[in-house]
Amino acid sequence: MRGWRWIVAGAGIVLFAAVLVPRVRTQGPNAPAKKRPPNALEVSRQFLTLHPQPRDEAERKIVAALEDMHVNQSRGMGNVWPEDGRVLRMLTETLGAKHVVEIGTANGYSALWFCLALRSTGGKLTTHEIDPQRIALAKANFKRAGVEPLLTLVEGDAHQTITRLEGPIDLVLLDAEKEGFTDYLSQLLPRVRSGGLIIAHDSSGQADQMHDYFQAIASNPDLETAFVDASRWGMCITRKMK
Ligand SMILES: C[S@@+](CC[C@H](N)C(=O)[O-])C[C@H]1O[C@@H](n2cnc3c(N)ncnc32)[C@H](O)[C@@H]1O
Repeated sequence: MRGWRWIVAGAGIVLFAAVLVPRVRTQGPNAPAKKRPPNALEVSRQFLTLHPQPRDEAERKIVAALEDMHVNQSRGMGNVWPEDGRVLRMLTETLGAKHVVEIGTANGYSALWFCLALRSTGGKLTTHEIDPQRIALAKANFKRAGVEPLLTLVEGDAHQTITRLEGPIDLVLLDAEKEGFTDYLSQLLPRVRSGGLIIAHDSSGQADQMHDYFQAIASNPDLETAFVDASRWGMCITRKMK
């Protein structure tokens, strides 16, 4: 009987050493920090240039303007990040968009990303801005980038000016004051074609200001949404299903 006791006690010690001790070491308070996998922004910055490689002279002018604006004008402008710009361009091209609507032009940085796509889709951008200084800056940027034939810059409060917009709209970018997003959505949604996209920017970085908007899209069964963090600011991408 005594021999059995020693065998059981020995087996217990071995089990403790083999199973529990390593667990305590990897999960307990003194566990070494787990290596965090890189996020999309870090991978993108490692493998991609900040702005795309131009394929012709017209793209070279647009990309040169984007690069200059990113370095010299982005401070306090609220521009999308290059990683978001890539997504906007890709979605616009993938949709074959003929009409893109933007609320919040600022100096025209995101508008230029749309223009890269619209050159190949044969589409147009209608972009809206309320601030006269930013309107002047955007006009100068559009001129040097050579994109004036691709867009219309509508001046004034977009809540009023979008009433004049005609559909069908393929893609909307909401990038003005967050508290206005639900009004922009309810005004523009009827003019978005089925299969079209409504993209709300800063859906991670300023999520706390967008709860009404999130509720509005989530309660509509005709809308399907994905949150994409290409940059850490995030985009809430909603598809109009019918
Ligand atoms: C975040 S910035 C837009 C950035 C731009 N989409 C980009 O990525 O380059 C927001 C802009 O919305 C404009 N804005 C705010 N309220 C507006 C309104 N009611 N109508 C039109 N523009 C508005 C602001 O003046 C500001 O320039």
